[in-house]
Amino acid sequence: MNRLVLQNVTRRFGGLVAVDDMSFSVPEAGVTAVIGPNGAGKTTLFSLISGFLPPSSGRILFDGADITGLAPEKVAGRGLVRTFQLVKLFEDLTTLENVKVGRHLHTRSGLLAALARTPAARREEREVEARALELLTFVGLKLKADTPASGLSYGQQRLLEMARALAAEPRLVLLDEPAAGLNGEESAALSRIIRRIAETGTTVLLIEHDMTLVMNTADRVVVVDFGRKIAEGTPGEVRVDPAVIAAYLGSAETAPIARKDARHG
Ligand SMILES: Nc1ncnc2c1ncn2[C@@H]1O[C@H](COP(=O)(O)OP(=O)(O)OP(=O)(O)O)[C@@H](O)[C@H]1O
Ligand SMILES: [Mg+2]
Repeated sequence: MNRLVLQNVTRRFGGLVAVDDMSFSVPEAGVTAVIGPNGAGKTTLFSLISGFLPPSSGRILFDGADITGLAPEKVAGRGLVRTFQLVKLFEDLTTLENVKVGRHLHTRSGLLAALARTPAARREEREVEARALELLTFVGLKLKADTPASGLSYGQQRLLEMARALAAEPRLVLLDEPAAGLNGEESAALSRIIRRIAETGTTVLLIEHDMTLVMNTADRVVVVDFGRKIAEGTPGEVRVDPAVIAAYLGSAETAPIARKDARHG
């Protein structure tokens, strides 16, 4: 069964075709990576899937339902959430509070009722807090629960963004360059966390330039260049695909296996 299906999805910005007639499917199980040179259209693709941008044409199906053109909060409410290439946290809130905000997307009474302090809301608030602490433990940030988000290292902020996304209990999570700016040890830990997310039944679709992470973490890879899908397969297959090698050599970047992204570091 496919979690996500893209059918001929295109997005134009004026004369620029950022995503060009893209079709692929993401199965329920495992981790799928989207790779490609800078400006290939990867983040635009995520914005189309998560409802932040409407496609110019084409269809997007999530668990069989057409979500094309739905607003981001509608898409999130159905169980599809994203993280951002550049971290977007509530810097003045604590680590724990940031995760709780993500969780309120999922609870019945929501944030307003939590503020109203009815008995039901108080009970729900305790559950939200317990689940948020579980998620912080999962990403290794439990000891930072009461630290303001602004007091975390960059790597920790990326992990917090992930915990916040998972708090919505998504069936599909889109991670935009989760390893950008992380050191080797941090990205190895991240790889294990991503595998475990997939093992718990949440489908993972990630954009990543860190090829060690992609090779170690992804079950499948979709390669894009100039908005078009140029290859698809296992990490081992795409790594030796002539079209993929040509795309990376043709850009100002090194081949995918060797490339180490430094832009956000
Ligand atoms: N809102 C926008 N308005 C106009 N052009 C845009 C917009 N967003 C992206 N683009 C252009 O679309 C193309 C694809 O950009 P996108 O950010 O999707 O690439 P990317 O593959 O995520 O790149 P990177 O690896 O650098 O993050 C680029 O040429 C970019 O300049
Ligand atoms: Mg991008």
